[in-house]
Amino acid sequence: MSSPSIQRFDHLEFYVGNAKQAARFYSSRFGFVNTAYRGLETGSREVASYVMEQGNIRFILSSGLKAGHVVSQGVMRHGDHAAVIGLEVLDAAAAYDITTSRGAIGAIEPTEAEDSYGVFRYAAIHAYGDILIKFVDRSDYAGGFAPGFALCESMQFNRSGAGLKAIDHIVGNVELGQLEQWVQFFAKTMGFEMLVHFDDQAISTEYSALTSSVMQDSTGTIKFPINEPANGKRKSQIEEFLEFNQGAGIQHIALATDDIIETVSQLQKSGVEFLQVPATYYDNLEQRVGKIDEPIDELARLGILVDRDREGYLLQIFTQTLQDRPTLFFEIIQRRKARGFGEGNFKSLFEAIEREQALRGNL
Ligand code: FE2
Repeated sequence: MSSPSIQRFDHLEFYVGNAKQAARFYSSRFGFVNTAYRGLETGSREVASYVMEQGNIRFILSSGLKAGHVVSQGVMRHGDHAAVIGLEVLDAAAAYDITTSRGAIGAIEPTEAEDSYGVFRYAAIHAYGDILIKFVDRSDYAGGFAPGFALCESMQFNRSGAGLKAIDHIVGNVELGQLEQWVQFFAKTMGFEMLVHFDDQAISTEYSALTSSVMQDSTGTIKFPINEPANGKRKSQIEEFLEFNQGAGIQHIALATDDIIETVSQLQKSGVEFLQVPATYYDNLEQRVGKIDEPIDELARLGILVDRDREGYLLQIFTQTLQDRPTLFFEIIQRRKARGFGEGNFKSLFEAIEREQALRGNL
């Protein structure tokens, strides 16, 4: 086998200070439904976790119940953060063996957990920062998220929420000089290829510049852009992230919708805060990106950005950072055949981020 047989994103686990409250935030603001839980009531003495689902997206929110627990330690260092990228594979042990034999550092050796629904197999390796990539094999497991979790009554509720469907891509920020190492990690140990590379000329504003490479698996299902800061006149948004995250980590998670106008309308109504671009962004928009199906006044009202590439166009918008530290945020994206990441919007997006950075005294 030449590379881990990745099927899809399985889940994304966040380590947070107070998972009980975070679960409420993700349900009331973003429309996720709590489908499973583990904690003291279910016999989990060290960690409490809430499984939150919407469309094909599965977030796990975990808090350590003791100071020494790995989740508590992670939160102490990074604040609330996305910590574990779960990938569904055909064979977790094989994925672990392949990647570690090619230089990945093992984190969790192949493990089997069993309950009345069958056998759940997993293993994990280290990626950038303290991020783990967890290989999950569900082929012999017919239960909910995993053994040890109790299903919630809300399983019966409508899970379409705000119309978020899937994880489109997960972006990491790494320290200056580390990008090449992590590009090689994904290429050599995971069998990924580089989809595209942006140098600091392509991505720069008056203040900040960055270099970015997008790594993807052989099917194009899993996309991991990775950024490193480049020298700018002042502190770049990537450096701000690295300072407050205390090292490399996940900068943003892009969530796909089939109807961004409806999704963003709902999210704004429920209180999600987005980055704002100047109204002038929409002047001559169709001259810049060509004909699009969505009404431009609606996009302008909601602050949704548009970009075009060879295959089509995409619509996207970025939330404010989701916690006190200026680290993790979400992107909402609708692809109209485009396969890019909104390169045409980088400049106006970064200028919007820099305005927020200036407000935080970090520019
Ligand atoms: Fe993105």
